[in-house]
Amino acid sequence: MGHAELIPNIGKLGILRDAARGADGAARQHASPRNYTKAEFPLPTIESFDVTSPAFKRAPYEILAELRRNSPIAKIALPGEQSGWLVTRYGDVDALFRDSRVTSNPADVYPPEVIAAVFPHGEFSAALLQSMIFTNDTSDHTRLRKLVSVSFTPRFIETWQPRIQQIIDELVDRLPEHGEIDFVREIAFPLPMRVLSEMIGVPTADLEKFRTWSNLYVDSMGNPAAALAIKGEMQSFLHYLHELIEAKQNAPTHDLLGQLIQVELEGDRLSRQELIGMAQLLILAGNETTATLLSSAMLTFFQHPDQAQAVKDDPALLKHAIEEIIRYKSPLMNANDRWVLEDFEFQGQRLRKGDQIYLCVTSANRDEERFSNAAAFDIRREDNQRHLGFGRGMHYCLGAPLARLIATVALGTLLRRLPDIELGTDMGELTWRPGITSNTLDTLPVHY
Ligand code: HEM
Repeated sequence: MGHAELIPNIGKLGILRDAARGADGAARQHASPRNYTKAEFPLPTIESFDVTSPAFKRAPYEILAELRRNSPIAKIALPGEQSGWLVTRYGDVDALFRDSRVTSNPADVYPPEVIAAVFPHGEFSAALLQSMIFTNDTSDHTRLRKLVSVSFTPRFIETWQPRIQQIIDELVDRLPEHGEIDFVREIAFPLPMRVLSEMIGVPTADLEKFRTWSNLYVDSMGNPAAALAIKGEMQSFLHYLHELIEAKQNAPTHDLLGQLIQVELEGDRLSRQELIGMAQLLILAGNETTATLLSSAMLTFFQHPDQAQAVKDDPALLKHAIEEIIRYKSPLMNANDRWVLEDFEFQGQRLRKGDQIYLCVTSANRDEERFSNAAAFDIRREDNQRHLGFGRGMHYCLGAPLARLIATVALGTLLRRLPDIELGTDMGELTWRPGITSNTLDTLPVHY
């Protein structure tokens, strides 16, 4: 299939066309042939749901259960005239994580000009996608991942335990003795951000900038208009990383980025582009996800006080409880986008080259076929270890040992030091951030 035929397949066509012709309503009326029609889209309940919306994030579970039962590979409408396939059963998500007929890199299917038009980094997008392990399925993935893996082994990560303890203690010390705070702002975001920036070697003074860039990026996922709107900010992010890497080249440091630069200088193994891609990925992939885990964990404990009490009484239960939280309230709604490389049939649906696929880990982790009594939160459950919250296959989360350690140290400390912490608002008042990937709370007011 040539590029001209492929272009109409890309879900983000509306934006591409607007970029090419100037955004006007008339241009938008020529619907892409790959956009769903009502007849193609059999689930009326889903049609009204934008899966990137805060409303869906608030109560996704019943809809996902309905999809697993009746429409496990569902055609979904996304903002900006996009459509995609939402895969909701555990077995299918697991299989597609490892299926070589799909790719994580849209540049494997679409030409650079399409990629540049629809991704937030503009003309740098195709090169950046290629240089990040997240979006590279080639042998370069193995090479790049190997270079950073040494810094993320469970054994190495354990050496960070005292520092993580120190940071969470400092964050708790800073709180007023009693009162109400936003848990997201005071604890959930700053903790992983500080740990990761020290680990990677980013100046602490710039953490607010990173929080902004990270939020903008995550919120725009699955929404091309939002992705285009942040182009300027993403260019600033890249520019910042470029300068940071240059500074470290002139004055070597021992942090992760400093080490990766040395590898570049000695063995010429990491290009400047790859260094930027790696730094960006580590910052974006680790912060929001871990912050989400921390606030989801607190919320889950508030909703299940008896199980929170069990963990307070026996802190040895905490590690296992964290796995159950990742299963029960997965920090990610969907894994990173996947793209169909060649036409094929999957569970009765015909997937076509260029189609976009979302692997819904939130749904897979609630699949009754895989987990008994899947809708129940049970910190003593034995079958939760095989959850898909960290993905599966070649892109399995590099930061899983770090996320687990941060969560164990932080939640253990919080339950010990703020034993009477409770939700400071009605459940109905809580709001979630937009974007197709994360399940992140805007704020989490708490009393203690
Ligand atoms: C609770 C927190 C976290 C969750 C739920 C999570 C989840 C995930 C998932 C589901 C994937 C697979 C994505 C896919 O296949 O499309 C992934 C990959 C990845 N994660 Fe995490 N993550 C978390 C924390 C972290 C941290 C702390 C880091 C550290 C910097 C990190 C770095 C990465 C990287 C680099 C990849 C890509 C690996 C590759 O492509 O080979 N993550 N993560």
